[in-house]
Amino acid sequence: MTGLAPGQVTVDVRLVPDDLNAALRRDARAGLSATPKAMPPVWFYDDRGCELYEGITRAPEYYPFRTEQALLRASAGEIAEAAGATVLVELGSGNSEKTRLLLDAMATAGAGLVGYVPFDVAEATLRAAARSVADDMGIGVHAVVGDFHEHLDAVPEVDGPRLVAFLGSTIGNFVPGQRARFLAEVGDMLDPGDRFLLATDLVKPVERLVAAYDDAAGVTAAFNLNLLAVLNRELGADFDLDRFEHLAVWDPRNQWVEMRLRATERTTVKVPEIDLVVDFAAGEQMRTEISAKFTGDAVRRELAQAGMAVAGSWTDPAGDYLLTLARPA
Ligand code: SAH
Ligand code: AVI
Repeated sequence: MTGLAPGQVTVDVRLVPDDLNAALRRDARAGLSATPKAMPPVWFYDDRGCELYEGITRAPEYYPFRTEQALLRASAGEIAEAAGATVLVELGSGNSEKTRLLLDAMATAGAGLVGYVPFDVAEATLRAAARSVADDMGIGVHAVVGDFHEHLDAVPEVDGPRLVAFLGSTIGNFVPGQRARFLAEVGDMLDPGDRFLLATDLVKPVERLVAAYDDAAGVTAAFNLNLLAVLNRELGADFDLDRFEHLAVWDPRNQWVEMRLRATERTTVKVPEIDLVVDFAAGEQMRTEISAKFTGDAVRRELAQAGMAVAGSWTDPAGDYLLTLARPA
């Protein structure tokens, strides 16, 4: 990889803590003043939130992580051969745990593996993952700390064909307009020899969907409530976490699971850093995340709208989850 020796880690920081704080102020001002109230899910992922997400991936009800992992275990070899890339770029890479399966497969595929470009907003988690992949695999790692809605231009130009992966069904967390914009940007970013690997969770019976976002041990609830702790720490807010409860609701019209925080009683919250006082009525709900579920046809159509064509697809035996490899059309 350009300017990157085997085993070396480079980190580009496009979002320093001050930028993040400014973005949080903007989102909180808009989201807490809106009707209904809503916050974007990016704010879940402080260090504690990353830890809680890892806890979710081990919850028995949260099938998406394990299903994707098993699917990668079974299919990463074929995917790597079909992609023919020497560099893996991964958006929303988190701790890169599942990615190892893809990296290992690329390393033994015909093209060979030269480098890894993990991209995430969570700086500490990203740095630790970058270091450990470089140490364990002896490849060059060029990490980017950024927001994938704003900084895709920060993905470095590298020698050799790239596979751009977006795992975890994180695309489900985008509202439809955001999704179309993001896919169009990815489509534009691809050179003719590059490929895009998109993971999507598929529509299935509502009981399983809702259970996956409301596990019995309460890890998802803690993850959701952690958003309020972030607002308290970063903006001096005085949310009382005991006055809010976690909800997971299936929206059949939009085909997505919605996570919400519900005020259990009337409560007033001060957010001094943005000069805001917010009232919650008893029972009022604030949306904190959507997690859209897909069909193969919808994925194909949305990729086509973004200038990409399907080059391969893989599902698990139960048909719960889909990995789609796309090329520039
Ligand atoms: N890919 C991993 C992690 C998924 S969790 C997996 O499949 O398990 C979602 C990841 O996306 C987190 O690591 C979070 O920090 C990151 N993320 C969320 N919003 C983001 C944004 N706007 N820009 C960049 N990264 C984001
Ligand atoms: C990362 N993302 C795709 C997860 C999801 O399933 O929507 C985040 C998550 N939220 C609650 N549980 C897991």
